[in-house]
Amino acid sequence: MAEVVIVESAAAAGELVAEEIARLIARRSDAVLGLATGSTPLPVYAALRNRLAGADLSHVRGFALDEYVGIDPAHPESYRSVITREVVEPLGLNPALVHVPDGAEDGIEHAGAEYDAKIRAAGGVDLQILGIGTDGHIGFNEPGSSFASRTRVKTLTAQTREDNARFFDSIDQVPMHCITQGLGTILEARHLVLLAYGEGKADAVAAAVEGPLTAFVPGSAIQLHPHATVVVDEAAASKLRLADYYRYTFENKPAWQGI
Ligand code: GLP
Repeated sequence: MAEVVIVESAAAAGELVAEEIARLIARRSDAVLGLATGSTPLPVYAALRNRLAGADLSHVRGFALDEYVGIDPAHPESYRSVITREVVEPLGLNPALVHVPDGAEDGIEHAGAEYDAKIRAAGGVDLQILGIGTDGHIGFNEPGSSFASRTRVKTLTAQTREDNARFFDSIDQVPMHCITQGLGTILEARHLVLLAYGEGKADAVAAAVEGPLTAFVPGSAIQLHPHATVVVDEAAASKLRLADYYRYTFENKPAWQGI
């Protein structure tokens, strides 16, 4: 099962994961990061900015999880724009080495396979950052997504469109379709790090970490991964049955192990 680390705040989660990423980049200057959007990874990116200020990150590579279909890439809420604004520019990454699935409607039927091929050509993702939707989705793999799925087009659920409406002027502007790395694609990353904060995520976290392995909760796919870390604050951990055991395990973990 995944290692669960319960921290006191989103900022602490960001620090912990940034430390692991910094360690990875120190080992491999051309590390391949799996980048996520949404509000969850922002504390990680903020901590990375502080921790790695002035470091040369121009060889670091990146692959985003997903993109809306049909959105203008220049739209401020396209995931291309979000990744550029939150990750590429502040960290000084080389934009040519940071990829986002192509959400253009023209050619969309091939875009998934092309993206998977790019990830493979890069040698795979070293560390994949993940958030989780309130319905248990990771990337944009909505409930029912196959654990074997590859990067492909999905229809967003009404709940996800409502959750994401806050980034747009109205819900009508939230695209209906997305292109997302599949669960099978995500599971090929060498280390999965799923973060969640707040009570609103507690059910999704409990279902993903301790519930049955089911396509109904796409996040439960992390249970199949040999190196998955779940970093949550107290509120997001509030429905975990083994919370005390996770705390005990982490407190007694050898320092050299990292997460
Ligand atoms: C979107 C993204 C997911 C993200 C989820 C949760 O649907 N495609 O990658 O995990 O939102 O968003 P937030 O982190 O803002 O709670």
